[in-house]
Order: sequence, then structure tokens, then C-alpha cells
Amino acid sequence: MPSVVNSLAATTRATCTVPVALGSRAYDVLIGPDLLSEAGRLIATRLGKAKCAVVTDENVARHHLATLEASLRAEGRLRGSIVLPAGEATKSFRELGPLCERLLELGVERGDLVVAFGGGVIGDLAGFAAGILRRGVRFVQIPTSLLAQVDSSVGGKTGINTPQGKNLIGVFHQPVMVIADTNVLTTLPEREMKAGYAEVAKYGLLGDAAFFGWLEKNWRSVFGNDTAALTRAIETSVKAKAAIVERDEHETGDRALLNLGHTFGHALESWTGYSSRLLHGEGVSIGMCLAYRLSEELGLCPKGSAARVSSHLRAVGLPTSIGDIPGAKASAPELVRLMGQDKKVRDGKLTFILVRDIGEAFITQDVAVERVTQFLVREIDTSRAA
Ligand code: GLY
Repeated sequence: MPSVVNSLAATTRATCTVPVALGSRAYDVLIGPDLLSEAGRLIATRLGKAKCAVVTDENVARHHLATLEASLRAEGRLRGSIVLPAGEATKSFRELGPLCERLLELGVERGDLVVAFGGGVIGDLAGFAAGILRRGVRFVQIPTSLLAQVDSSVGGKTGINTPQGKNLIGVFHQPVMVIADTNVLTTLPEREMKAGYAEVAKYGLLGDAAFFGWLEKNWRSVFGNDTAALTRAIETSVKAKAAIVERDEHETGDRALLNLGHTFGHALESWTGYSSRLLHGEGVSIGMCLAYRLSEELGLCPKGSAARVSSHLRAVGLPTSIGDIPGAKASAPELVRLMGQDKKVRDGKLTFILVRDIGEAFITQDVAVERVTQFLVREIDTSRAA
């Protein structure tokens, strides 16, 4: 994976472009400040005569919809906008049906574009609606959270949640362009920004030790007003994701590496009822620390790696152990049971992403459930490990 360190000299560029090379489904991810007001021109220049139906949520609409609509209107590209309630509950069958019908009422034609303008929830829902509307219309992702900019807007995973679990219904449907405006992150609550940062750190931890080292030195700039550092962190993350998606678009192999910290994290999210007790990125942060501690305990990675990971994430302000989650104490067997409901279960075996070192993750199904249970019992008894 390319390292951020060699390309720091280029941080003065305003906008950067990361190609996602998927043959006939190839697209660019554009990253930089003030791209929202450029969106109409970018879409008109790159995507032909299509008109746009914008799907967004109430929070994003309040801060940014007027800017996007003005930009699309200036190019004569706006069909209309649909504003949905903010929050995970929107990613549901209950919202999907009416959304598809409203897109049809707006007159969305086969050659038009659905614009998913929001965080992961809107990206997943609007992308799924685009994937099934008229048997598939094109869509543009304009992600407005750090998590969506570095992860969910890239790679074509779309879908909704059901009572049986998260993201169990959906399709792979690649966007035709991703526009990541770094300025919109200034209106993001600090807690959400930190949660998104867990996914940024993930790219260093799974495949790029130099990037993780850069983050350890530069995270304050990433969170400060340093656009160049923020753009660099997003660009490096998107490049890492693009490289993995290009190798394994449909997650039959390497793409599972992107789930570092997610097997534990999803179980913790499920246990906390997908509530504000634990945001997705916070679950990933704890999950990555657990993956490093388990790998160390199994003798797979050098001693001290786990402490280094948790020390960085804690400095940023992220939770790093199960005891950091407010409220009731977890139960190890319950967490293991919840892990078994993850869609990464194959032939009844849990898939874990473990590590050989910082920047060296690998996929395994070789960890005995009893071993994981014992590990979690110790983790739960230690209120703040490493
Ligand atoms: N968020 C993990 C993936 O896109 O595969």
C-alpha cells in the first residue's frame, strides 16, 4: 500500500483525485475544500446531461443543502431533493419503499443521477435505492461525515438494516463519482469526527505502518484547521480502500481486511442496541485494540504493538477497551453469541482479522471460540486495559 510519508510535499494542492479502477465501473473520488459549490459543474463536466435527485437528511439539509442545490440549479441539473430523518433507523424497508416512489415522482429517468448527500446511512440507503430503481440508475456520493468520506462512500456497498442485523439486505452498486468536500466536516460534531478517525487509523493499522506513524505525529493537525493534513489523511485512506476494492470488489477475499476491529465492534454495537452509548467508529476503535491484544496474546504480533495502538487512539479521545463503554457491564458469552450473528460467519466459523504487526493484518478462521470467550472475560474484568 502506498505510504503517506513520501508524498507529504504534495499537501499544498487544493483538490486531489483518487481513481477507483474497476473497468467499466471505474470512477474518481475528488477530495478537497469547497467542492460542494463546485458539484454542479463537476457533474455537468464529467457525467453528461443527467439531472440529479438529491437524497439527504435533516441535519445535512440544514447546513448544506442550499449550497448543493444552488450549484446544481446553476447548471440546470436539479430535479429536486428528498430530505429524510437523520439516524440509523432511516436505513430501513420502511424508508426505502417511499424513497423509491418519491424518486419516481421527481421524474428520475434511467439516465439520471441519484445524489446521496450525507453520512453512511444516506449513502447506503440512497445507493441501494439507485441500485434497484428502474433496474439500476447511476448515483453520485457526496459524503458529509469523515467516516463516509474515508470508507462507506467508496466501494459500492449499499443496503439497509433489518431486525435480523445490520446491512443484511443490499446490493453492490458502485457510484459514478464521489465528491468529498473537506469543509463540510467543520459542521460535524466532535464525537462523530473522532469516530470517523477510527476508520482512518484502521488503514494504517491494516496495511500501512508509515501512515500510522504519520497519524501519531500529525493527528492534531488532522483535527485542527489544517486542510492539507486533513486532505492527506482522507486521500491516503481512500487510496488504501480503492486498492483493496480493486483487488476484491465483492469481498471474496482481501476486502475482509477492511473489517479490522469490526467483528468485535459489531458485537459491541449490537450489545449497546446501536444507541448513542457507542458510535460505529467507537466500536471499531475498541475492536481494533481487542484485535491487537488478542493477536499479542496468541503470540502472533510483537509485544508492545497493542499498547502503541491503544495509546494513540486514547490520545485522540477514542475508547480503547470494553470498560470505556458507559453503562452496564458486558458479558463475554453474550458478545461471542452476537459475533456469531455477523454476516462474516462462514460454515459456522467466526472470521477474525488479526495482525502480525502494525500495518500487517490478515484474515483467519482459526481462532477457537473458547479462546475468544476467555480473552473477553479478562478484557471485561479489566476496566481499562493496556
Ligand atoms: N466498510 C467495509 C467495506 O467497504 O468493505
